[in-house]
Amino acid sequence: MAEIYAIPARVQEGGQQPISTMGAWLEARHRWRNDPSAFWLNITQSTIAWSTEPTVGLNGDYYSVKETPFSWFEDGQLNITESCLDRHVETQPNKTAIIWEGDEPGDVRKISYRDLHGSVCQAANCLSSMGVKSGDRVIIYMGMVPEAAVAMLACARIGAVHSVVFGGFSADALRDRIEDCGASVVITQDEGLRGGRRIPLKATTDDAVSGDSPVSKVLVYQRTKADIGWTEGRDVWWHEAVEASAPVCEATIVPAEHPLFILYTSGSTGRPKGVLHTCGGYITYTSYTHRTVFDLRDDDVYACVADVGWITGHSYIVYGPLANGATTLMFESTPLYPDAGRYWDMVERHKITIFYTAPTAIRALAAHGSDPVRKYDRTSLRVLGTVGEPINPDAWTWYHEVVGEGRCTIVDTWWQTETGGICITPIAPVTPPKPGSATLPLPGIEPVLVDPETQTEIRGPGQGHLCLGYPWPGQARTVYGDHARYISTYFSAYDGLYFTGDGCRRDADGYHWITGRIDDVLNVSGHRMGTAEFEAALVSNNAVAEAAVVGYPHPLKGQGVYAYIVLQDEAMATIEADLNGTVRTAIGAHARVDLFQIVPGLPKTRSGKVMRRILRKVAEGESDKLGDVSTLADPSVVEAIIAGAQT
Ligand code: WT7
Repeated sequence: MAEIYAIPARVQEGGQQPISTMGAWLEARHRWRNDPSAFWLNITQSTIAWSTEPTVGLNGDYYSVKETPFSWFEDGQLNITESCLDRHVETQPNKTAIIWEGDEPGDVRKISYRDLHGSVCQAANCLSSMGVKSGDRVIIYMGMVPEAAVAMLACARIGAVHSVVFGGFSADALRDRIEDCGASVVITQDEGLRGGRRIPLKATTDDAVSGDSPVSKVLVYQRTKADIGWTEGRDVWWHEAVEASAPVCEATIVPAEHPLFILYTSGSTGRPKGVLHTCGGYITYTSYTHRTVFDLRDDDVYACVADVGWITGHSYIVYGPLANGATTLMFESTPLYPDAGRYWDMVERHKITIFYTAPTAIRALAAHGSDPVRKYDRTSLRVLGTVGEPINPDAWTWYHEVVGEGRCTIVDTWWQTETGGICITPIAPVTPPKPGSATLPLPGIEPVLVDPETQTEIRGPGQGHLCLGYPWPGQARTVYGDHARYISTYFSAYDGLYFTGDGCRRDADGYHWITGRIDDVLNVSGHRMGTAEFEAALVSNNAVAEAAVVGYPHPLKGQGVYAYIVLQDEAMATIEADLNGTVRTAIGAHARVDLFQIVPGLPKTRSGKVMRRILRKVAEGESDKLGDVSTLADPSVVEAIIAGAQT
C-alpha cells in the first residue's frame, strides 16, 4: 500500500509532462504512433496509483472487439478511489477537493480531501452494510450535491458499479434503467433544488421502484427537509446510516477492467444504451485529458458547471479533477438564477481559473448582453472550455471577448459519453484556435473521415462521417448486457473503425469542424435524445396513430424538436399540451417537443419505411430541396406536409 503514495515524485517525468508547444504535441503523437501501448503505459504508470502496476497496454482491436471487448492494462490492479483520494490525503489533506455552490448564491460548502475521503469511506461502509458487493449495481438519482460525488466514489471504493440517472428523468425512465442494470439500491434525495424550484426526487423514485423491482434499499439524502413518503424497511436516511458508519474503509482492489460505471445514453433506435466504462483505462484517460487540455496547475480553482447525470459531470467534475488532486466546483443551480450574472458572480467569489460550460448556456447568456458579465471581476479566469455541441463563431467570440476579456484560451472540446473523455480539442494555451472548430486530436486519438458514398477514407481536407481509428484507454468497452448492440451501433458501419455518429469537415490545416449528428440522435441544449424515444412516447398517447420526430436549427437550443403527428381521430385537434405531458412522463422534464405539425400521413416508401430525410428538410425550412420523392407510396402527403410546415 505504501508504494502508491510515492506517485507525485515520479509525476515529474513521463506522462505528466505538459504539452507546452505544438512541437511537443507533434512529438507526443509520434511517440504514441510508434508504440501506443508504451505511450499509455508510461502515462498510467506515472500518474495513477496502481496496487499492481500493469505491464500490458492494449489487448485487442476494432476487429476482435466483435467477439471480446478490447482491454487496457489488463494485468494491473487498483482501486481508482486511491488515485482520487488516499494519495491526496497523504500529501495535501487540507486542500479543498470540492467547492459546492448551492442553489442560492453564497450557499457554499468546502470539502477538503481529508473530509471527502472520510465521507466516501462512511458511505462505502454503509453500502456494504446494505448488502452491496463488488460488481453489484447502484443507481444514483440525485441533484448537484457533494453527496452525489460521495455516492459515486463510495461505490467505486467497494467495487460496486454506479449508474447515475440525471435528476430530470421521469419515473418511467428511471424504472427502465433500474431494471436494465438490475440495481439493488437507489441513492436519492428528498428533493432537488434548482433555480428556486423543487424537484421531487424521492417521490419519483418511489414511483419507479413500486411493484416488482430489483431494488431492496433506498438511501435518502436530506436536502430540503420536505415531507416525503417513507417505506419502512426499505428507505434509509443518509444522515442516519452514512454518518453512523465507520470513516475507515479499505479499498477493494479490482482488476483494471473491472466495471466502474454504466451511463445510459440515447442512440438512433430503441431504448437508451447502458454504456460501460471500466476502472483503469477510464481513470487514466480522464486524468490525462483533464490536466492536458485545461493546462491544469496546482493552485487552480476549476469549475465545470455540468450535471453529474451526464458524462461531462462524471469525467470532468468528479473523476478527472479528483484524480489530479484539483479543487473542483459543483454547482446546484442554473446560469440564469437569480439572474444572468450567476456564473460570473461565482467566478469572482471563488476566484475560478478554469471554467467549463456548454454552448447553449453561452448563447442564452449572450442574449442578456454583456452588463451582467462586466459587473463581476473575472481576472482570475485563464481557460474557458465548451462541450456538448458545435459552438457557433458568434457565441465563441462573445465567450472569448466578453467573458474572457480577450485574454483567456477557449477550448472547444469534442467527445461523447462513449469516448469517456475529450478527444478532439485545442490544448490550452498552445493550439492556435479557430472559432467554431474543435481543432486537432489529442495524442492517442486518430480521427478518420469516411466518405459515406464510396466507403473510403478521406485523407487531407474534406467532409464525411467521423470515425476514430484506434482504441484509447477511456473508450467504452461494451453496452451493459448487450455486447451485440455495442458492435452493431459503433463497429458495423465501417469495418475496423469506431463510428461516432457525427459528421465532420477537415480543413487544409487539418482542423476538425463537427457538423452535428448524422444519425437520428437529437442534441437539444447539449442534451442528447433519441428521436425514437420521442416517437415511442408520442404514440403511447391514445390520440396519436403515428409520429415522426426530427430536429431543426434552433437559435438558442442548437436543435429544436419537431414532431409530425398523424392523429387517431380528426376530432382531437388541440392536443399539444397533452402530448408534451406524455413525453414528460415517458422521458422527463428536459424532453419537450417545440413544434407540432398534424399531418394526414407520413411520407413512406412502398415498403413502409418513413423517409426521414424529407421530414428533416421541411423542418429545416428547406422544402425546396427535397430531392427525389418518386419512391414514395403516396407523394401527395408531401404537399400537405409542406403546406402545413411550422418553420
Ligand atoms: C455528442 C455526444 C461529451 C460530453 C457531452 C455530450 C456532440 C459534443 C461537441 C463539440 C460539436 C459536440 C456530438 C457528439 N458534441 N461535443 N465540442 N462540438 N459537437 O456527450 O451526450 O454523449 O453527446 O455531442 O454530436 O456525438 P453526449
